[in-house]
Amino acid sequence: MSGAEVPAEAGSPSFLTEARDVALSFGRTPALRGASLSVAAGEIVAIMGPSGSGKTTLLHCLAGILTPDAGEIRFAGRRIDTMGETERSTLRRDRFGFVFQFGQLVPELTAEENVALPLLLGGTRRAAALKEAGTWLERLGLDGLEKRRSGELSGGQAQRVALARGLVARPEILFADEPTGSLDSLTGEQVMDLLVAAAREQGTTVIVVTHEPRVAAYADREVIVRDGKVSSFSAAAQVSS
Ligand SMILES: Nc1ncnc2c1ncn2[C@@H]1O[C@H](COP(=O)(O)OP(=O)(O)O)[C@@H](O)[C@H]1O
Ligand SMILES: [Mg+2]
Repeated sequence: MSGAEVPAEAGSPSFLTEARDVALSFGRTPALRGASLSVAAGEIVAIMGPSGSGKTTLLHCLAGILTPDAGEIRFAGRRIDTMGETERSTLRRDRFGFVFQFGQLVPELTAEENVALPLLLGGTRRAAALKEAGTWLERLGLDGLEKRRSGELSGGQAQRVALARGLVARPEILFADEPTGSLDSLTGEQVMDLLVAAAREQGTTVIVVTHEPRVAAYADREVIVRDGKVSSFSAAAQVSS
């Protein structure tokens, strides 16, 4: 299983990923001002909060895409904010999965090539990667659409392709930024059902940014980001009622 090889290095081995007192500004705009979040292996955590509160910035810090100005980011007990970019990009490629806001498929590639991309980047041979991609497309109800480019897919189909791409390499952790943002509520629920089922099945930890309480209700735990801080906790069940 994918979670089995997490090394227990320095830090708190009980958490897979951690942000501690993270601050980050874009020019003079503070996006994070002392945000802390710890997520255990196998947890599905929803990040909620108003627009502009710092949710995407926090997710990108945890994922090693952005480097904070202050504070610490750990993955499997290791500092990743102080890691060199080469090592960090290897980590992202081999152990992290992403579903970006608005999907962001590569328009020149077909649906199956988009899904296969993380495997191809990891060195899997093309035939094997496309075969695995086909399995995921089928699983997400997209069989028959393998050869379509993103312009030939509906919003819901493209979002499911992006989800398949995020999960295909069986990442230890999936970072998903408003994965249902462009979908109607029924399609959004189908996407979340698939995401949660796939994550549980392969033991993938999930951090999902959303502003929809119905999406957050799928999570084990919910945190709220406000003014660049993780300001409160509540059980998902309380919010969904
Ligand atoms: N690349 C950027 N350049 C300048 N400002 C940014 C950038 N990304 C985010 N911000 C600002 O940082 C704050 C937090 O943004 P973000 O993390 O995207 O919030 P959220 O995802 O909660 O909507 C906002 O004030 C936003 O305008
Ligand atoms: Mg955002």
